[in-house]
Amino acid sequence: MLSKYHWWRDAVIYQVYVRSFLDSTGDGIGDLAGVRAGLPYLKKLGVDGIWLSPFYPSPQHDHGYDVADYRGVDPLFGDLAEFDSLMAAARRLGIKVLLDIVPNHCSSEHPWFREALAGEPGSPARARFHFADGRGPDGSEPPNNWHAMFGGPAWTRVPDGQWYLHMFTPEQPDWNWRNPEIADEFDRTLRFWLDRGVDGFRIDVAAGLFKHPGLPDSDDPEADARTRDSVNPLAWNQPEVHEVWRRWRSLCEEYADRDGLERLLVGEVSVPTAREHALYVRPDELHQAFFFDLLGAPWDADAFRKVISEAMQDIAGTGSTVTWVLNNHDQVRTVTRYGEPATGGSGLGAARARAAALLMLALPGAAYIYQGEELGLPEVVDLPDDVLTDPIFRRTGSRARIRDGCRVPLPWSGQASPFGFTSGVEGAKPWLPQPSYFAEYATDRALADTRSFWHLYRDGLQLRASLPQLGEGTLRWLDTPPDVLAFVRGDGLVCAVNFGTAPAPAPAPGTPLLSSGPCPPGVLPGATAAWWLNDL
Ligand code: GLC
Repeated sequence: MLSKYHWWRDAVIYQVYVRSFLDSTGDGIGDLAGVRAGLPYLKKLGVDGIWLSPFYPSPQHDHGYDVADYRGVDPLFGDLAEFDSLMAAARRLGIKVLLDIVPNHCSSEHPWFREALAGEPGSPARARFHFADGRGPDGSEPPNNWHAMFGGPAWTRVPDGQWYLHMFTPEQPDWNWRNPEIADEFDRTLRFWLDRGVDGFRIDVAAGLFKHPGLPDSDDPEADARTRDSVNPLAWNQPEVHEVWRRWRSLCEEYADRDGLERLLVGEVSVPTAREHALYVRPDELHQAFFFDLLGAPWDADAFRKVISEAMQDIAGTGSTVTWVLNNHDQVRTVTRYGEPATGGSGLGAARARAAALLMLALPGAAYIYQGEELGLPEVVDLPDDVLTDPIFRRTGSRARIRDGCRVPLPWSGQASPFGFTSGVEGAKPWLPQPSYFAEYATDRALADTRSFWHLYRDGLQLRASLPQLGEGTLRWLDTPPDVLAFVRGDGLVCAVNFGTAPAPAPAPGTPLLSSGPCPPGVLPGATAAWWLNDL
């Protein structure tokens, strides 16, 4: 057995939301050839790898999280040959590639679901999903009272009177993981992509998969839809799911044993407590699980200190590293979350988002950057209703405008939409409209301006790669005034963040390395983070 190279433990991975990254065909939708064309940009930024959002054949009811064929490429995004070219280009540049795998549910157009619809109640085809008879004298009430995460009941009735379970939209039927065929089929999918060279998987809804046996009623049926977190204890986080992660881990180990290179499993694990979260990253389960509490924390020194300390405790003894994340394709972007909408890019929200970035890159463990975060893109908050595509908007009766605003296609160059996002086709329109102020955030401007977010991320990543104090390890908090957090990494790298608005004294003398904003000697201004090298 070769000794394994734990590249993932402090890797920085860039999340590519494929449909919004770069469009090579002019249809207004980003694609795999676009990702390939953008790789040199990502290499320059200095990330270790990319995670590709789902590009599999799909009717796109939830932008690819409704998978009709787990082992193909939707023509919207390219084909398998293009995928192979992308892999080869990433390999040449030394960029790792993670795919997004969706095991909790598929698309209602998946051939197995179509077979189930065509099959009889009680047939083997239906046993791959959760089909059940309804309640009430004529079976016209759903089999239980659960609500779906994205609003509405979690059950849909089919013409012969039975119902099927979907914890998201009706177009996303949940697999029945108590049926061994499902685990076997997913093994085949994992091997298919691993054999094509991928370095691992981001696992969608990794606390899902199994439901409580018998699918009993919930005491608080609307909880999931209300919180948009998977909190129904009967629908999520069942003990059996850990068996699946053990199985996937050992499958990945097979590949690692061949060439010494670990294949990463990183889970989207939303569970109520840190203790339960830690169970998913035991040494024989997932390598990592996103730590969403950082993303959820308000801009407040105590709140950040609490979540960071808990994460470090949570991870201790699991064999994993904390997987930090500030932004993703499901959440309001940091620039907007931390302040007022920053259309000029110089507002308080932007200053705080820059500071948060330096903080995240200094923390022990791995970090995930969502495309556009390195440009300081704000959330697009004023998209008109008729362009919104997030199924949550539709299923909550237009009450929740949540996920389109962070998915607007990236600006690359120029003064007007499509800002270089679609190449070479006159009049091509991005699938979501880009606001005119995106011009200020375009990558060509960001690269040319050393004060840009881009340079801050690039400089942070370069230092992270060269300084032994950063990456994996521990941290030690320093005593600081109430609005300031400061910690030491290794032998003397200090990171300090001022969450307040008034300037604070710099926490310790040292050589300044990098700061998120102007930093006079000995001072840490408000909404600013800085790194120093120190002889503590
Ligand atoms: C995850 C994805 C989200 C998707 C959902 C259903 O939370 O991040 O985008 O809608 O799963 O697959």
